[in-house]
Amino acid sequence: MKRTRIGAIDVGTTKVCTIMADTDGSIGGTRILGVGIVPSHGLQKGMVVNVNEAKESIRDSIRKAEQVAGFKLESAFIGVTGRHVVSSNNRGAIAITRGDQLVRPTDLRRVLEVAKSVKVPGDRKLLHVIPRTYMVDGQEGVKNPIGMHGFRLDVETHIITAAVTSIQNLTKCIRGVGIEIDDLVLEPLASAESVLSDEERQTGVILADIGGGTTDIAVFKDNTIYHTSVLPVAGHLITRDISVGMGLSFELAEEMKKKYGNVMPNQEEATDETLTQDGHSVSYHDLSEIIRIRVDELIRLIVLELPHTDYAKLVPSGIVLTGGSANLPGIAELGMDVTHLPVRVGAPVNLYGVSDTLRDPAYATGVGLLMWKLRNEDANDIREKQSDTGLRRFMSGFFRLFK
Ligand SMILES: Nc1ncnc2c1ncn2[C@@H]1O[C@H](COP(=O)(O)OP(=O)(O)OP(=O)(O)O)[C@@H](O)[C@H]1O
Ligand SMILES: [Mg+2]
Repeated sequence: MKRTRIGAIDVGTTKVCTIMADTDGSIGGTRILGVGIVPSHGLQKGMVVNVNEAKESIRDSIRKAEQVAGFKLESAFIGVTGRHVVSSNNRGAIAITRGDQLVRPTDLRRVLEVAKSVKVPGDRKLLHVIPRTYMVDGQEGVKNPIGMHGFRLDVETHIITAAVTSIQNLTKCIRGVGIEIDDLVLEPLASAESVLSDEERQTGVILADIGGGTTDIAVFKDNTIYHTSVLPVAGHLITRDISVGMGLSFELAEEMKKKYGNVMPNQEEATDETLTQDGHSVSYHDLSEIIRIRVDELIRLIVLELPHTDYAKLVPSGIVLTGGSANLPGIAELGMDVTHLPVRVGAPVNLYGVSDTLRDPAYATGVGLLMWKLRNEDANDIREKQSDTGLRRFMSGFFRLFK
């Protein structure tokens, strides 16, 4: 069977991760062929603030991945995040005017076109228009209306827009290193692909990707996206708290956090042991306390982002934490204490090929960017295409596979 090459670049606040793979169109049939991870420069809170610096990091990351894969990366799926991303739920409706009143695939396309024609201000760009559910003649909750009879078809969509300037800075970096953009994908949607189970999406779950600069949130319910948002609070703030609170440089604070950080130290450990690093001594108790207070607050902020306060009913599967900061020991326990919901840490699953380094929560977005396309191919997602040629090349390969 013919295989198609695909690529993904997660341009994060702390690292750039390029993944190259080939696929037969299924997740199980996707093999990772090259991975390139480098520290990122020129980014703040998920956004490019220095194009030249960011470009260099991206270039380095691609070069590394290409060396492993043994071929050149031509195009890739790119993640988008930042406080400028705004999401809302919207509706579109059309009349079914043909004599037999039968809903056909063309009607689905038509109603999505209507939903997509929402007014977006000139400084914003439509990133995703994702159909959530359909309604036929007022009958709600229809997952697939094709073949039903009716006079009127409504669609409920989740719409995500982003600031044009932020997108331009990002796309400039990617195109500047000679890579075509297959599509721009909101990062929490990507992360969800690599760490959530179908069951979690069905019953209701919050996915929180706690990175360096941002915490990306996506809520799923009834197998569809319910809510997305981005908080400008994540690992960097934890490190800054340690740095300010203990009088350490940012670098040393970061080192201490990763080496000793624990939000739920057990009692013996918490009785004040002294930690020494590069000639600086800090109390283990104080370090844990500083981290715990910030993470406690962050978890509260995550659930406050939910549109409903009846959390147990909305998200019975609770919270799945991912992103580099989900590596903090004790974070799931603290999450359960604070929210009284089930909480687990999620790392990418279903990986094949040269993928060992990717089995870490920090790579949920990168891996998810690859999977997102495979999963959403038939979901009627009519995202605005960023680069028609790249996407078309990819899609035509795809359709050939299925013919
Ligand atoms: N073992 C660890 N303990 C605590 N924090 C950790 C650990 N490992 C990584 N981190 C933190 O994870 C953060 C980086 O996570 P990640 O790689 O997901 O971010 P990013 O994708 O670069 O950034 P963003 O998604 O915010 O743009 C850093 O703040 C880092 O300190
Ligand atoms: Mg990230």
